[in-house]
Amino acid sequence: MASLADELQQLFQQFSGQLEAAANEQAVRKVYADFGGANGAIRLKQKELIKSAPNDQKRVIGQATNEILQNVEAAFNAALGRLASQAEARELARSVDVTLPGRAHRLGHLHPITLARREIEAIFAQLGFTVAVGPQVETDFHNFEALAMPKDHPARDMQDTFYVAGAEGAAGEGADVVLRTHTSPVQIRTMLARKPPVRVIMPGTVYRRDDDATHSPMFNQVEGLCVDEGITFADLKGVLLHFARRFFGEEIGVRLRPSFFPFTEPSAEIDFSHGTCKGRGCRTCKNSGWIEIGGAGMVDPEVFRHVGYDSEKYTGFAFGWGIDRMAMLKYGVDNINAFFEGDVRFARQFR
Ligand code: DAH
Repeated sequence: MASLADELQQLFQQFSGQLEAAANEQAVRKVYADFGGANGAIRLKQKELIKSAPNDQKRVIGQATNEILQNVEAAFNAALGRLASQAEARELARSVDVTLPGRAHRLGHLHPITLARREIEAIFAQLGFTVAVGPQVETDFHNFEALAMPKDHPARDMQDTFYVAGAEGAAGEGADVVLRTHTSPVQIRTMLARKPPVRVIMPGTVYRRDDDATHSPMFNQVEGLCVDEGITFADLKGVLLHFARRFFGEEIGVRLRPSFFPFTEPSAEIDFSHGTCKGRGCRTCKNSGWIEIGGAGMVDPEVFRHVGYDSEKYTGFAFGWGIDRMAMLKYGVDNINAFFEGDVRFARQFR
């Protein structure tokens, strides 16, 4: 009997030692399982002892070992209780200064180019124009050929572009895939996909090998196209004037100067009177009182031929300009690169 008590006592001591060392609930539960659980050391010992004891001793042994198991159980519960009250004490000791100012989350906002693009789209939407977009990596056919700029046409030189290695693997001058130089190819895609009447506004990013304070190799344009029976140059001017007044202000005037584009005939440069100096002339508008905005004209029958429109039946006008230019004028920004540098101090001014 003495050795039985010793053995159990030893196990209990081991258990107590490990329980004390257990730093968290998981560890406490593991120690309990190792000793007092169904397959724990003490319970196994109990079974073994009872089994090997003579019949008249089994009861006494059972009672003695049960007592130990009760102690194990009690120590286990006490350990859990201790952990719980320690956690509670820690929570209570945590101090919160409710008088500290809160940390505000900074809300994002739209980029000035996006603001300008959306406003342009909204103004044209009221005139019945829908928005269309096309790919930035474009075929030579859509970007040049169908716009009456065949391979050797001198007008291509004004739009020196980035050539992309195409299916044949060739990049460089003469390749058939380019980063689009303007949004005009979306006119072609739109007309190839739909029959007249067509009234679309086509915003998008374009690429050219240009880089200075007023030119970025990547910039944004918006293109307009209106094709129907009986569309005239007067419709073009009316639409442009309406837009200029809505976008820049009622006092703005529009001037169309004769020009040349391969895909329009006749063609014009669009000037808006300079809102900042109220047309009086200043450094920005080179003392003319007018700001060059973009190009426009009546769609050339050659373009209609490429998209399968009947130029005897339909006429149309088209125009295109830089959204970034528009935003620069509207928000008084003098370097186009400011839009693309990603400096939040700049962008934040347009909330
Ligand atoms: N695509 C021309 C450019 O980027 C601008 C332009 C001129 C667009 C006349 C037009 C247009 O739609 O009719 O230089």
